[in-house]
Amino acid sequence: MRGFVVNVPTSDLDLASDALWQLGVRAIEERRDESNDLIELWTAVGDHDDAVARADIALAGRWPWQVIDIMDAAADTWREFARPMWVDDTLVVVPAWREPPGTDGVIAISIEPGGAFGLGDHPTTLLSLRAALRHVVDGCHVLDVGCGTGVIAVMAAMLGAGSVRAVDVASAAVEATRDNADRNGVAGVVEVDSTPADDIEGRYDIVVANILAPTLIELADDLQRLTGADGCLVISGVLDDRHDHVVGALAPMVVERTDTLDGWAAVTLRHP
Ligand SMILES: C[S@@+](CC[C@H](N)C(=O)[O-])C[C@H]1O[C@@H](n2cnc3c(N)ncnc32)[C@H](O)[C@@H]1O
Repeated sequence: MRGFVVNVPTSDLDLASDALWQLGVRAIEERRDESNDLIELWTAVGDHDDAVARADIALAGRWPWQVIDIMDAAADTWREFARPMWVDDTLVVVPAWREPPGTDGVIAISIEPGGAFGLGDHPTTLLSLRAALRHVVDGCHVLDVGCGTGVIAVMAAMLGAGSVRAVDVASAAVEATRDNADRNGVAGVVEVDSTPADDIEGRYDIVVANILAPTLIELADDLQRLTGADGCLVISGVLDDRHDHVVGALAPMVVERTDTLDGWAAVTLRHP
């Protein structure tokens, strides 16, 4: 298993953490050096070369960083702290190595993250899942851009979506989504690959994109184009007090609703 250590001044902590989330990491450990103003950010990225190549683009020239080998056991200590995450009273995301709660009438989604982001416990994932949950109806067509573990795509399929397209630039995410769709019995509904957004065709009833602001802005034209005339677009990965610029990039789409959790927001938009 490989990982990164990034050395950042305290003042750059949020910026650097955002850049790492953008790479699709699952968890970031902060190690502070009391003798100076530097923080080390440690994170594991699995064994995929493309994650290292993308880190080079995202981090190079901004902060010193290095690739490290992490013992699989050390990289996996977070697993013992992972718990089921309730999306609402009817739906729970369960780490694949935990027992699902045996409650009648509850949908349990089993997720093995592999090298991808999205166990349902990050505020942006939870907000995206709740927004998607409000809109999925039988037979609808869903697009999940930046699918990570596929948790949103799999949930939509389990709730009765007719088709779900999931895409991600990270090969670890494509692999994890395929595996999780299979694990939850919806492999026949979820189509997953690494097609760039500008090569995707058609229009969807629900488009979900939980990706950080700079990428959402880059993808804004495609996200609009891919959202059906009566469909909705859910963006997350944005800060609750700083996302006007992302909404601006999506104009003339209009904001229908904004939900916030722990400093993050999910915004649901529609065509005027
Ligand atoms: C914050 S994670 C979200 C994962 C999952 N959808 C969730 O909500 O937990 C963002 C994901 O977007 C992917 N990503 C980043 N830029 C992308 C792009 N331009 N197109 C597609 N996926 C992208 C990353 O690889 C990462 O898996």
